Parts: sequence; C-alpha cells; structure tokens
Amino acid sequence: MTQQPLHVPVMPVEVAGLLAVRPGMVVVDCTLGLGGHAAMMAETTGPSGRIIGLDQDTEAITIARERLAGFSGRLDIIKSNFSGLGAVLAGLGVTGVDAILFDLGVSSLQLDDPGRGFSFRADGPLDMRMDRDAQTTAEDLVNGFSEKELAEVIFHFGEERFSRRIAHAVVAARAGERITTTARLADIVLRALPRGYQRNRLHPATRTFQALRIAVNRELDILGEALGQAFEHLVPGGRMAVMAFHSLEDRIVKERFRSLAREGRGVLLTKKPLRPGSAEDADNPRARSARLRAIERI
Ligand SMILES: C[S@@+](CC[C@H](N)C(=O)[O-])C[C@H]1O[C@@H](n2cnc3c(N)ncnc32)[C@H](O)[C@@H]1O
Repeated sequence: MTQQPLHVPVMPVEVAGLLAVRPGMVVVDCTLGLGGHAAMMAETTGPSGRIIGLDQDTEAITIARERLAGFSGRLDIIKSNFSGLGAVLAGLGVTGVDAILFDLGVSSLQLDDPGRGFSFRADGPLDMRMDRDAQTTAEDLVNGFSEKELAEVIFHFGEERFSRRIAHAVVAARAGERITTTARLADIVLRALPRGYQRNRLHPATRTFQALRIAVNRELDILGEALGQAFEHLVPGGRMAVMAFHSLEDRIVKERFRSLAREGRGVLLTKKPLRPGSAEDADNPRARSARLRAIERI
C-alpha cells in the first residue's frame, strides 16, 4: 500500500485545552480530514469515550478509517456534510455531545493533489469539489457564470480588488475556448492583473482560487447555520471549538458565538481568536492563517 500524506493537525495543544477532552466523553469531529485531531481526541477519551467523525470527502474518510482503525469499537465515521450533523447524530442515537470540533477548509490531501483542482501550483482539472458526489465544479462556474456573477464571487469570497478585471479576462478567454484547467485559469488571472502586482507575497491567483473554492463548496452559506445546529447538540458545559483560515469564515464564527453569548446561552472561551505560536507557524505553512475560537454551552 502507498504511504498516504499525514495531515499535520493545526494547534493540537490549544484545541485539546479549549475542548477540555477527558476520558469517557462523547466527541464529534465535524471535519475529520485525515484524522489528525480525531486520533488525539480518541486517545484522550479512552477507554470508554465515543468519537464521531464527519467529512464530505470520500478519500479523506478512507484514510481516516485506516488511521483510526485501532479505536473501531467506539468510533463512527460518516460521510456527510456537517450541515447534516443533526441527522447524523439522530441516526446514531446520540442525544448529547461533550465536545465538537470544526477545522475548516481543505486538507493537505485535497490541496496537494493536482487531480482535485484546488491549487494553481500544479496543473489539473478545474474541479475544487470537496465532495466529489456534488454536481457543480469550478469549471462549471468559470464557464457558466455571467461576468457580473464572476466579479461578485471573486470580490466577495476572494476579497480581490481587481475582481472586475479578472472576470472580464475570464469571459474574454472562454469565448475562444472553454477553460478547463487550473494552469490556464491561473495564467488568465496573472495576465489580467497590473504588471508587478503582488500583495503580501501571495501568488496573484490565490484570491481568485479561494473565491471559486468557497463558491463551489458553498462554504460560507452553510457555516453559520451548521454552527448553530452543532451548539444545540452540546450538553450543558459542553464545548465547541472552530478553526478558521480566512477572515470571511472567522467573521461568521465570531458573530455566531457572540450572539449565543449575548442570548445568555453560551460563554466565550476566547475573547480574541487564538493564533498558532511562531514555531508551529514556521513548521506548518497551513497553520499560518489559523484562528481558533471556542464557546461553552451554559
Ligand atoms: C482542514 S481538514 C481537517 C483536518 C483534520 N482536522 C486533521 O487533523 O486531519 C478539513 C476537512 O474538512 C472537510 N470539510 C470541509 N467542509 C466540510 C463540510 N461542510 N462538511 C463536511 N466536511 C467538510 C474537508 O473535506 C477536509 O477533509
């Protein structure tokens, strides 16, 4: 069997501390990925605790199952979008959860595989679906959206100030030939931007790719509602931690947590988001933009 990449969990110590995971707890990992955080929580909850892991990516599920095989008597792994958490828990007969984790975004498995189409660094099909059973790919959006729709998505989900220029260039390019690969899209974006354009040492296509990924997976549409739903399944004293990787996501988490605190239903465990320490930041590039927030149910 080939060696699979092991996703290095981000801020594991901080997550463990905020969730206060202890033996016997019922824990849900809503973004199982390659099972890094779940393995840690499975250890800590032993020997009698229960771990439930969700992911919408079949490939991630397969790898996590293998990695977590040692905990199989007290582990359930389900392929589901976390927007379906309520139904998953009902199906398992779970009525109260002690700790819930969301580690949002894509995993290294998804990002590093050119065949998944998330990255402009290697050429691949313009796909970007975390759930390969979902219908809409990035290719569909890039070739199907109007110029105005493209500009809006790139502006709102990519926070890209040259969104209109990029949308215009995409529409002009696809009039010649359908855009089907990441390299071609990256090239179109690069050419649409002013010469020498660089911001924060980001690749010029970073924001456009982020925007499309968010649109394809409807990431921001489902997040607020999913967090609310997850909170309802916590037992009193139960905790939820959420790691976000860009400001749009983090804003939704912040607002949802604040409103639960204002309603007197939860206590914020992080007034400001926790950030990774400089050692982790240097070792794991993915950690760099992480922001971790947590709340406890009253
Ligand atoms: C950053 S990775 C998680 C890594 C994991 N914590 C680990 O230590 O290995 C995020 C995972 O969440 C999944 N994911 C993202 N959004 C999701 C959603 N709405 N529903 C279910 N899974 C989702 C992705 O498919 C990806 O595998």
